[in-house]
Amino acid sequence: MTLEEKLSLLRGGMPGVMGPAPADPVGEVGYLPGVPRLGIPPLRFADGPAGVRLVPPTTALPAPVSLAATFSPEHARHYGAALGREARTMGQDVLLAPMLNLVRVPQAGRNFETLGEDPALTSALGVALVEAIQAQGVIATAKHFAANNQENDRLTIDANVGERALRELELPAFEACVRAGVGSVMAAYNKVNGVQACEHPTLLDAILRREWGFDGFVVSDWGANHSAVPALEAGLEIEFMSDHYATLADAVRAGRVAEATVDERVRRILRTIGRFGLLANARQEGGRAAGRRRHPLDPHDGARVARDVATDGAVLLKNDGALPLRDQDLRALVVVGPGASHLVVGGGGSSRVGGFPERRTSPLDALRRIAGPDAVVSYSPGLDLDGVPVPASALRTPEGRPGLMRTDDATGTSRVDPQVNFVGDGALPPGTRATWRGTLTVPSDGEYDLKVQTDWGEGPFVFNPGGTAIVSIDGNEVASTTVLVSRTLSLIATADGMTNATGRVHLAAGPHVIEVRAGLPQPYAGARPEVTRPYQLRLAWVTPEMRRTAFHAAAEAARTARAAIVFAHNEGTEGTDRGSLALPLGQDTLVAAVAEANPRTIVVLNTGDPVLMPWVDRVNAILQLWYPGQEGGHATADLLLGRANPGGKLPVTFPAREADSPTALPERWPGVDGAQWYSEGVLVGYRWYDAQGIVPLFPFGHGLSYTTFEYGDLAVHARDGGHDVRFRVRNAGAVAGAEVPQLYVSAPGDPPVQLAPQQLVAFTRLELAPGESREVTLHVSPRDLSYWCVQRRAWRVAAGARRVLVGTSSRDVRLRGELTAVGTPA
Ligand code: BGC
Repeated sequence: MTLEEKLSLLRGGMPGVMGPAPADPVGEVGYLPGVPRLGIPPLRFADGPAGVRLVPPTTALPAPVSLAATFSPEHARHYGAALGREARTMGQDVLLAPMLNLVRVPQAGRNFETLGEDPALTSALGVALVEAIQAQGVIATAKHFAANNQENDRLTIDANVGERALRELELPAFEACVRAGVGSVMAAYNKVNGVQACEHPTLLDAILRREWGFDGFVVSDWGANHSAVPALEAGLEIEFMSDHYATLADAVRAGRVAEATVDERVRRILRTIGRFGLLANARQEGGRAAGRRRHPLDPHDGARVARDVATDGAVLLKNDGALPLRDQDLRALVVVGPGASHLVVGGGGSSRVGGFPERRTSPLDALRRIAGPDAVVSYSPGLDLDGVPVPASALRTPEGRPGLMRTDDATGTSRVDPQVNFVGDGALPPGTRATWRGTLTVPSDGEYDLKVQTDWGEGPFVFNPGGTAIVSIDGNEVASTTVLVSRTLSLIATADGMTNATGRVHLAAGPHVIEVRAGLPQPYAGARPEVTRPYQLRLAWVTPEMRRTAFHAAAEAARTARAAIVFAHNEGTEGTDRGSLALPLGQDTLVAAVAEANPRTIVVLNTGDPVLMPWVDRVNAILQLWYPGQEGGHATADLLLGRANPGGKLPVTFPAREADSPTALPERWPGVDGAQWYSEGVLVGYRWYDAQGIVPLFPFGHGLSYTTFEYGDLAVHARDGGHDVRFRVRNAGAVAGAEVPQLYVSAPGDPPVQLAPQQLVAFTRLELAPGESREVTLHVSPRDLSYWCVQRRAWRVAAGARRVLVGTSSRDVRLRGELTAVGTPA
């Protein structure tokens, strides 16, 4: 290979945005052209963890956190197989999944993409995903290596993390996936202890390669690389969305880096794609580069997996008997909340996949369909997410005429529009870029929801094809449809399918300066592909009075119903963390108002992570559905009606108060002066709550069922240098159900270093018929009892007696035993 040919394998393109692109793109986010002369094929890279994100539809699986809640490696194998199969069918070679970072910050934007807060759970499911994806002939990518645990300042933050927290919490899942043969690892955006993750010799070379034996390739996150020689020498194979590697040819010629280093990077890529059978046509004397063939996608298998995981990942947080719904409830049932009539499919950002549009059924429609013709299921939104176009009567141009003054950015020409409401046949010409200015006059003091809505665009990056729109009031931006980094963007599109961004602002009665800018290029989208579609744009609002009307209508409907179901959601997205753990847009008030009106109130949550529940004692049942993917409507209806029995468990702790979280110090999150400090040490997730004696709202591992389970016959035996823990679980109720027995081991009485009071070591998921009982054996290995010794740079077992705790959650222990750990010899 010539030097140029070698370097072409290290410089990835983002089709349509920068660098090389295939002649026949399908929306892949990364591309390498290969070396046609030698028969080295092109490689296509697609996101991501919740479905294969391409332009043609693919299955929108439930968010990975929902998979985590199944506590089932078997489900993870089906999920991974669906991802791998669809990626391969669509001609993709590398899948940018799974995400293995832990939930460290309850507010972090991408929590829904993770497998929870525990390394044993993340490792077990991560390995199952990787093996299943790769069994389909597609290379999986363990991401984001490492300590990428928040979105605020993600491109620049320096994560200062101690060696023990890194080794014991953040790295085990990466290590497990490397040992399971993952072909690719993605280096993160952030710095780790002062060094860019993409040029980190300790992470990329010493640990990943030399210690764990990784023989695949490392890719940068998109735009995460900051250098040529340092990154190459540290171990970054392929750079995406930046072009520092363009300077490598000169660097080699000038002797600033050895060509042998380039060779080593290239060899890793070739070895890996060779392992996946992609070099079949390569010849030294010239081969025939053949890309992967694309086939029509059969959506059935994916849909089945999506539905199973959505159903089995649902967590019944609370139930006083209100669930499942009774026949009499169905004779006058009221359903409230926008998430009921519009399925919340997935979270926002690069993992967003819309799914097959024809399969997306709202929970409300699914419920009505199953409930049958005698059921009376009414719907009252309670919370109006769409609003109405801001009327001309509330708008004045700077000259005082009704409406707003539009200025075309390109030509500078102006005209007056009575409203900003350009939809359907009235849409703006493709490529419009314009600004509307004037005043908005509000009738009374209060909280106004100002909304800017643009064409949805399910394109490759769910970018708005026509560009972003932003609305500002009195000089402050209040809402923006920027896809990756907007805290104001809703996961729920408008009823007519537009992207919907909302800002809630307090306005005093009277006029306010308003500005709407539209058609702005999206940050991170690079050069915009040519836009051919008309641009739809709307400025809408919900006034305090409209809000009160919607609230009261829902409460009134609940008053006369036999039972009420309120759907509440949060808006998890890549690019930004949540400002607070509270449900957004006043949904707490809505839940409380419905609960006040109806003594049989059920809450369905579509959140990607913990939320506070000030109304928890006032409702009768709470069912957590996460972001359940394209089949989530059916799964929700099945669970509410008792056609399926919830068996999911929380993979993250739900704190009772914001201040209780392990990262409730600015130095921990979001960081101070560009740096954050993991000063909670090894006390991530439930380890923190246990160590501090804080009672969470719902603990890690918690989840109820429509049946009950009995535990018994605990026995602990030494085996293979570790211990087997055996016990029996029986379904003591009248319906079939799933139980996830969890094995925790305590710290010894007198630990040599700070250890968590208990940690999850093993678990299994059992499906049990009524009366059925099963014997379970779980294993505790010496590594499970180890801590990372910083002085010796090695794992060491802390000697001493340990409590063995078998529970149905981390705080509901059913069986207690003991084992004695033999310490690592000095
Ligand atoms: C995300 C990655 C993703 C990549 C390509 C980045 O913004 O952090 O997870 O794979 O974009 O879409």
